[in-house]
Amino acid sequence: MKIETIFPGDFDKLHENESVLFQLDRDTGIAIILINRPSQLNALNKAVICGISEVLDIINNERKIKCILISGSGERAFVAGADIKEFKDFNRADAFNLSKFGKEKLFNKITNFSKPIIAVISGYALGGGLELALACHLRVATDSSKLGLPECSLGLIPGYNGTQNLTKIVGSNIALEMILTSKIISSDKAHSFGIINYCVKKDKLLSEALNLATLCANISPESAAAAIKSVNSTYLNNGEEIESEEFSKLFDTKNFNEGISAFLEKRKPNFT
Ligand code: COA
Repeated sequence: MKIETIFPGDFDKLHENESVLFQLDRDTGIAIILINRPSQLNALNKAVICGISEVLDIINNERKIKCILISGSGERAFVAGADIKEFKDFNRADAFNLSKFGKEKLFNKITNFSKPIIAVISGYALGGGLELALACHLRVATDSSKLGLPECSLGLIPGYNGTQNLTKIVGSNIALEMILTSKIISSDKAHSFGIINYCVKKDKLLSEALNLATLCANISPESAAAAIKSVNSTYLNNGEEIESEEFSKLFDTKNFNEGISAFLEKRKPNFT
């Protein structure tokens, strides 16, 4: 995949307002989704949430796509939060519906997606933007990115699974510090907390993300789906049972036979 091709003119266009752009590369098995509201620092409004959701539905049906990158347009922000302008006049019921809609339409869909999704962060990942990254399976950021959940400073709390996902990733000690203080932290700090997997120079961001995506795209797709489901079940009462079920289901797949045969024949597996 050529990094140079990542600009709006090259993307398949889904929406007239171009709030979300995407590119599928069936040769590498990697798709890129680009949130395209740079003038608003890619703030998540309804159109963006629906746009990403629709692209994920398309990707779900594209058997050749094995891994997805999500990024923001421009260098200033991955996503600077949920669109504050959209919910400034909301009442309690509106707010509940916004949170529920966002989770159902996008955040839970990403977390439970059967193909690995990697957040590629340049610039601000704040509020709903960090929550979007936390919903993804892996995160790569530039060394100049800034991350935080500053909702408490607005008289709110995170409402797109931020309290849940950040706690699962880093534990309640760091999650509560970040949420209660509304601190915006450097990507170095985020890396030391374990919030992001890799912290790289700006010019290495996409290549690092593509390296990671290539590794994820090269495993058996059934293994990827089973691994995501099992890891996501960690905090369920029957997590261990789900892992055993997912593990055993894989023995019925052609890719299991291929993986074992390839090992015994001392060659690389060719998963389909
Ligand atoms: N919702 C809606 N609009 C947003 C936004 C958000 N979360 N974040 C940024 N924008 C908009 C700004 O309103 C501005 O729009 P305008 O030009 O129409 O006025 C535009 O994006 C550029 O942002 P600006 O604030 O001028 O850039 P900056 O470099 O001075 O500051 C930030 C950048 C990220 C520090 C600042 O925009 C900010 O604090 N954003 C909100 C972060 C936040 O609290 N997120 C959690 C929301 S729940």
